[in-house]
Amino acid sequence: MPIIPAEPKRSDMTAYPKTHALMARGCEFLGTEHAILCGAMSWVSERNLVSAISNGGGFGVIACGAMTPELLDAEIAATKALTAKPFGVNLITMHPALFELIEVCARHQVSHVVLAGGIPPKGSVEAIKAFGGKVLVFAPTLALAKKLLRSGADALVIEGMEAGGHIGPVSTSVLAQEFLPELAADFVVFVAGGIGRGEAIAGYLEMGASGVQLGTRFACASESIAHPDFKKAFFRANARDAVASVQVDPRLPVIPVRALKNKGTEEFTAKQREVAAILDAGAIGMGEAQLQIEHYWAGALRRAVIDGDVENGSLMAGQSVGMVKAEEPAADIIAQLMAESETALAGR
Ligand SMILES: Cc1cc2nc3c(=O)[nH]c(=O)nc-3n(C[C@H](O)[C@H](O)[C@H](O)COP(=O)(O)O)c2cc1C
Repeated sequence: MPIIPAEPKRSDMTAYPKTHALMARGCEFLGTEHAILCGAMSWVSERNLVSAISNGGGFGVIACGAMTPELLDAEIAATKALTAKPFGVNLITMHPALFELIEVCARHQVSHVVLAGGIPPKGSVEAIKAFGGKVLVFAPTLALAKKLLRSGADALVIEGMEAGGHIGPVSTSVLAQEFLPELAADFVVFVAGGIGRGEAIAGYLEMGASGVQLGTRFACASESIAHPDFKKAFFRANARDAVASVQVDPRLPVIPVRALKNKGTEEFTAKQREVAAILDAGAIGMGEAQLQIEHYWAGALRRAVIDGDVENGSLMAGQSVGMVKAEEPAADIIAQLMAESETALAGR
């Protein structure tokens, strides 16, 4: 019999009245106490961290990454055994078995599915809504965001280039100014990228965000299964160490990835040259070339997170890594963020 931990003590809802007033829509949408998502992090966001975030009053999201439908099925079941609170599943749109993964989510009646990594393919949003799931999407431009929200997506995450992992070219502060005044009145929008403290959360909530999404700040939570050496690298790093990867061949467009500088960063340059050469030789098409690049990242991230190879693996991290100083329980990080936001708002 799986053991469901005792209902965690709900924090006093009056402890953060100003923050909760601004988060109300986000909390209602997510079904959580606080509108703070822990963005899916491949290899890191599995049952332990996801359940700890949700039990701590936030919203955990399983990173499906390159998992097979069978593995995702097992991960959702295991997460359900650790929390009775809502959590989501993040699916990468270019996954070849995307629709089977959606079926797995349907069987488990997953309440929220996040579609990441590209424009949702035809029928994917509909398939999630058909089983009653809510759909969160990313959009790089305002026009696309409007289109996705009008055609069925339930909420939007805007993520700036300060974030860890795959990134776009625009900063969070600029995206927030472009998207929130246009969308926040009518839609649920979460802001992500570079958020390390509650003061920043307060600012984005005041601009109209319904909530926020953080990754880097949660990657080293006590419940995170990331290797101790991966965590140590985070504790030592400063904002300037989290750099975006460079595209070396103009013919091979690669999505930049923000990670801590190491030998693996250089190896990525070599990998791009290798893939570009096979592309030139006509042995593979552009789609396959990009898939090979993505497989490279998944493998490199696994090496760092699971094996602790912090030299050659990929230490994906956002610029807020400088604010990650020690291992702390996820619930404590959430409480700190809420308290910082509340103090900021109370002092206005
Ligand atoms: C180690 C790591 C792995 C990540 N993997 C994924 C992923 O698999 N899918 C995804 O949509 N986002 C991924 N992200 C992005 C996070 O979900 C989140 O949006 C981001 O970390 C927020 O910005 P922050 O790092 O500045 O807090 C990853 C981020 C990190 C740091």
